[in-house]
Amino acid sequence: MAFLDWNDKYSVGVKKIDDQHRHLFKLTNDFHEALAVGTAQRDLGKALEALVDYTRFHFADEEALMDEADFPELAQHRLVHERLTREARDFYIRFVEGRPVSTLDFAIFLSDWLVNHIIVMDKDIGIHLKSSRERRGGPF
Ligand SMILES: [Fe+2]
Ligand SMILES: [Fe+2]
Repeated sequence: MAFLDWNDKYSVGVKKIDDQHRHLFKLTNDFHEALAVGTAQRDLGKALEALVDYTRFHFADEEALMDEADFPELAQHRLVHERLTREARDFYIRFVEGRPVSTLDFAIFLSDWLVNHIIVMDKDIGIHLKSSRERRGGPF
């Protein structure tokens, strides 16, 4: 069983976002797996870098989508993304500088954060998009 299992309850109802969240789950699992098998620091660093990079890409994409859809809580949502980006980047820097960090704690923190953020905040994006589609009466 993977560290993080994708489940339909995580779907926000927007395919592009769901696909990106699935990929984030996969990268988190890859990172956790790398930890579990005792991968060398260098490769662990690569798995972590891939995760941090993709998180930033995903946040930018999600924010662009909220912006296009006039999502009312964009500013608040963006602040939460910024906080996580900062925390993830700080962690990555400590890691590459060889300072003591708990990679397992980070994997647990990240998975909790990811799952909670999807359930609590990202789902609202899907709800907003669905209701604006219904208001417009269009097929999309
Ligand atoms: Fe988000
Ligand atoms: Fe998201």
